[in-house]
Amino acid sequence: MKLLYFILACFLTGCTAPKHSHPTRQAVLTLKDAYKNAFLIGTAINPSIVSGDNQAVQEIVLKQFNCITPENVMKAAVINPQPNVFNFKPADDFVAFGEQHHLFIIGHTLVWHNQCPAWFFTNADGKPNSKQEQIERLRQHIQTVAGRYAGRVNGWDVVNEVIDDDGNYRQTSWVKAMGDGDTLVSYAFRFAAQYAPNTELYYNDFNTWKPGKRAGIVRMIKTLQQQGIRIDGVGMQGHWGLTYPDKENIEASIDAFAGCGVKVMITELDVDVLPKPDERITADPAMAVGQSQDTARKALLDPYRQELPENVQAQLAKRYADLFSIFYSRRDKLARVTFWGVHDGMSWKNNFPVRGRTNYPLLWDRQLQPKPAFKAVLSVPAQ
Ligand code: GLA
Repeated sequence: MKLLYFILACFLTGCTAPKHSHPTRQAVLTLKDAYKNAFLIGTAINPSIVSGDNQAVQEIVLKQFNCITPENVMKAAVINPQPNVFNFKPADDFVAFGEQHHLFIIGHTLVWHNQCPAWFFTNADGKPNSKQEQIERLRQHIQTVAGRYAGRVNGWDVVNEVIDDDGNYRQTSWVKAMGDGDTLVSYAFRFAAQYAPNTELYYNDFNTWKPGKRAGIVRMIKTLQQQGIRIDGVGMQGHWGLTYPDKENIEASIDAFAGCGVKVMITELDVDVLPKPDERITADPAMAVGQSQDTARKALLDPYRQELPENVQAQLAKRYADLFSIFYSRRDKLARVTFWGVHDGMSWKNNFPVRGRTNYPLLWDRQLQPKPAFKAVLSVPAQ
């Protein structure tokens, strides 16, 4: 009888059930489901998550995400710290974990000046490599690492962070040793295409929302394309804050990169809630500083050591909702959004740009409880 009344009531009111009781809205409890028709949802993971030592976090990863990036284990300093010394086990385990759970696997990263050993740039006599020797080092490294996982890794961050805010190449160890940036980038993508033929190949960088850097990346992509060299995507590292970058610049960069005919991804997303010690600080790991010796300044820069106040928690949730509204509205151009970690306790932001602070940049807290920001992200597609 009750059902009959309900059907009748529905009929009379045009069947406008309240929004919160919509069955599909109620059913969506995971990030990957909420965004399944939009883009992949990824996270960076470490060996304790892969092995299951950290089982609780592994469970979150498997439930919520469909894409993984290794935080460190594929970087040159870990995988090949000295000539003829290789440490493949953690990377092998990472790839096997991704395959076992049918996750989209990102390789990170082949060419980066940070976490790259000094011996990569010197020859057998201990002298700086000639350009030819450096090309050969690059080739061997890409053959060794990308070749080892060919057909298993779905996408590689081939080159990381070689362009400056003004659009010129940064004078990194790799750029200097190869003579210039265009030469480095074109050899790197050529070798990656050769040794990882069925893998997507990406350029990845921070501050990609800045107009000068945006223009430099567009120029670099077009230069590669004009030479017939394959580049499949650009990763916009999202090491961002509560108030920066602005919507317009994020959108303009997504549009500019997509306009080159490549995939666009938000990689390494986290939202810093702490004060910056210096406005000039970017996401460049080389810029990390120690804590101030001045007690007042130290406290000022690390204000939430015990807990995150509710109003800041709310700001964080709102910021995440705003960011995901941008991403969702550009879902035809975005292939993936990857967070740089699962919970606040594992974030590099506790040590950058100031070492040893308590930051709250991710969607799960230190007790592995989902934060209001999680709910905010989850609910964007249904709105
Ligand atoms: C850069 C790198 C990442 C990671 C972060 C900080 O963005 O691409 O691999 O090292 O810095 O942890």
